[in-house]
Amino acid sequence: MTETRSVVAGVGSFLPERILTNAELSTMVDTSDEWIRERTGITERRVAAEGETTSDISVKAAKAALDAAGMTGADIDLIVLATTTPDYTFPATATQVQAQLGAGGAAFDLQAVCSGFVFALATADNFLVRGQAQNALVIGAETITRLIDWEDRGTCVLFGDGAGAVVLSAREVEEDGPGILRTYIRSDGQFRTLLQTDGGPSATGTVGHLRMQGNQVFRHAVNKIAEAIETVIERAGVTAADIDWFVPHQANQRILDSVANKLGIPPERVVTTVATHGNTSAASVPLAMDVAVKDGRIKPGDLVLVEALGGGFTWGAALIRV
Ligand code: COA
Repeated sequence: MTETRSVVAGVGSFLPERILTNAELSTMVDTSDEWIRERTGITERRVAAEGETTSDISVKAAKAALDAAGMTGADIDLIVLATTTPDYTFPATATQVQAQLGAGGAAFDLQAVCSGFVFALATADNFLVRGQAQNALVIGAETITRLIDWEDRGTCVLFGDGAGAVVLSAREVEEDGPGILRTYIRSDGQFRTLLQTDGGPSATGTVGHLRMQGNQVFRHAVNKIAEAIETVIERAGVTAADIDWFVPHQANQRILDSVANKLGIPPERVVTTVATHGNTSAASVPLAMDVAVKDGRIKPGDLVLVEALGGGFTWGAALIRV
């Protein structure tokens, strides 16, 4: 028996050139390379150049994903772009990307902060499986450093810029064939003030800075992420032992280790890029996925688990057979 699934046809990513090291950050705020590495696992992150926008880096990641899929923009009839740092308040950055790629159909942005890519994947999957689009670009892209208060050592050491993209195609596949098997997304607004910006178009007429109660976020992250993972695994009828590659949101090495440990996923099955990317918010999962596809770890037929937690709180997970 066959069924319609969203199949990963290509993955791509792009990182801005400029590297910001822990050593350089130590000259800006009262911190140290040792503190940052011990508490987060981060050694460096990228920062978009002046004038380099979220749409610029999205287009580069999208073109790489299209190349990998053997497609052009003209083949795309849906773009879902997850970002917290759009070029402009409106129109959606996705429409800018759509125009530059020559894509058709519909294009819109999705806001779920660091969980944005998982939410976008779930959204595009529903459009494809319902037959409302044929080929979708799911993009996670951030110039999140634009929201950073560079005097706040509790946040400025954590974040970085980048973009990742996945092409999804609606295909008829066998039950044991490729495609998105399950997605699960959740939000709980009672935690919204633990991770937010202190500005926005309607509230203050400004963009605001990222504000976070890091230790509070940390306290909730592991349990919520584990809940999402356990749900997708159970609903897909697999076990943690079946997972070939775990590609988590890259927020903090200690969170990744705790989640993997709680679920019994061995460290050698975990794709980690947090050391060199930092937390790139909605871009982190597709960026990490691209690294593991390019270096040959993720191969056709593998079962890949992705997850994320972010402001809102929002959180979720997805299981994909590539
Ligand atoms: N360098 C040196 N000291 C720092 C620092 C830095 N960059 N940032 C904070 N500190 C200090 C604090 O001021 C505090 O000092 P005090 O005890 O004198 O008040 C001390 O370190 C402990 O702060 P705390 O916030 O409790 O540290 P922590 O162990 O929780 O580590 C984070 C801080 C941000 C690394 C950690 O909480 C974290 O990663 N949280 C999750 C964040 C996350 O994943 N967010 C994104 C979700 S999408």
